[in-house]
Amino acid sequence: MSHDSEPQPVTAHPAGPLTGALKPPGDKSISHRAMIFGLLSVGETRVEGLLEGDDVLRTAAAVKALGAQVTREGEGRWRIVGVGIGGMQDPDGVLDFGNAGTGSRLMMGVVGGQPVTATFDGDASLRKRPMRRILDPILKMGAEVVSEAEGGRVPLTLRGPREAIPIRYELPVASAQIKSAVLLAGLNAPGTTTVIEKAASRDHTERMLRLFGADVSVTPSGEGGHGRTVTLTGQPTLRGTDVIVPADPSSAAFPLVAALIVPGSEVILRGVMMNPLRTGLITTLIEMGADIERLDEREEGGETVADLRVRASRLRGVDVPAERAPSMIDEYPILAVAAAFAEGTTRMNGLHELRVKESDRLAAVAAGLAANGVGHDIEGDDLIVTGNGGPPAGGGTVATHLDHRIAMAFLVMGLATRKPVTVDDGAMIATSFPSFRPTMLALGARIEDGAAA
Ligand code: S3P
Repeated sequence: MSHDSEPQPVTAHPAGPLTGALKPPGDKSISHRAMIFGLLSVGETRVEGLLEGDDVLRTAAAVKALGAQVTREGEGRWRIVGVGIGGMQDPDGVLDFGNAGTGSRLMMGVVGGQPVTATFDGDASLRKRPMRRILDPILKMGAEVVSEAEGGRVPLTLRGPREAIPIRYELPVASAQIKSAVLLAGLNAPGTTTVIEKAASRDHTERMLRLFGADVSVTPSGEGGHGRTVTLTGQPTLRGTDVIVPADPSSAAFPLVAALIVPGSEVILRGVMMNPLRTGLITTLIEMGADIERLDEREEGGETVADLRVRASRLRGVDVPAERAPSMIDEYPILAVAAAFAEGTTRMNGLHELRVKESDRLAAVAAGLAANGVGHDIEGDDLIVTGNGGPPAGGGTVATHLDHRIAMAFLVMGLATRKPVTVDDGAMIATSFPSFRPTMLALGARIEDGAAA
């Protein structure tokens, strides 16, 4: 998979019920962080269930280039021997993060707090994404931008300070990536680094900081206690440890919605992470009438996981509040697909951050819906989708703009539309869910190479 390769069109065909059980791939957020914490620790970190998608492999390569020993010991099993805080070396070449916003932005936090100089680059999608949101706080912490592409984008070269300056930083947008970059830079600051977020975003960095031995406190703050104040004591010794990566709810979302919209389906998704800052989609789908049962809730690697039994359901439109966006930020493309099959109107409020994901997801989703005969509208930052309770026409070709989630969302749609749906390029699916196609085929889906005949 590479951004230089020829586009690979893929078509999903309507087919019979989906049945069976599967374990979705390891969580992408935790997988990136496991690599990065492995680098920053003293001693050995062993990871189980790592997502071996292109995004995480790029982070693994960067971790190696910065001085860690990184070994793959088996499927999803990795060993990292870290260099400790302050022990990194200048990488020989450019750190190419491919499509990975999370990997590149978190690593900018790492480099921005340590005495090291590195050049960051990525594919055509990453080169369009705003990095100023990371540079703003880390420049305050003592980092220096040696060179950058227009508007603070990659390729950019960053030089970190000998010691970072501890800051108190209020996030301008709800973003776990910005929060994490500041905290990671703060690891090499003498004193406390504080990040204040108006709305709680995913907390994997805070959890893993603790797991590796740092002192972090998290207190509710802001209006209605929806926000968080996170305080980190700098310059701890992080010690390598074992990390078990639970299944990614953002990847589980695709077979989950497929099971809801393909009539007669019943699918079990095993070991899906139920961190409440990641389950906004499930909450929303249940409000829409989805038959989703949480079975055998248990603890795995410091997170609650559950098996989800999903049965095909009649869905109805709902209003999705803007406050829920951080807990389902990556799930709007697939929610829009579910909404296309629902009876009535689904209004998704406050989606401005969707414009700066792997693609402008608001525009990409709207274009995909239009191509497949689904009624929709964009009002400001809100997406409105109107379904008639039955299968949409389908028959369209969807431009994916190097965005894995646009590709998977519309392939899922094509499993239940009246005519097949084609996506112009399926290659990027490998960034987060390399086994998507075999997984869906094993459930009984029909997904084939090429455009619809
Ligand atoms: C992520 C944070 C989110 C999300 C991304 C993963 C993370 O991005 O969209 O896929 O692992 O921290 P933002 O921080 O830009 O909201």
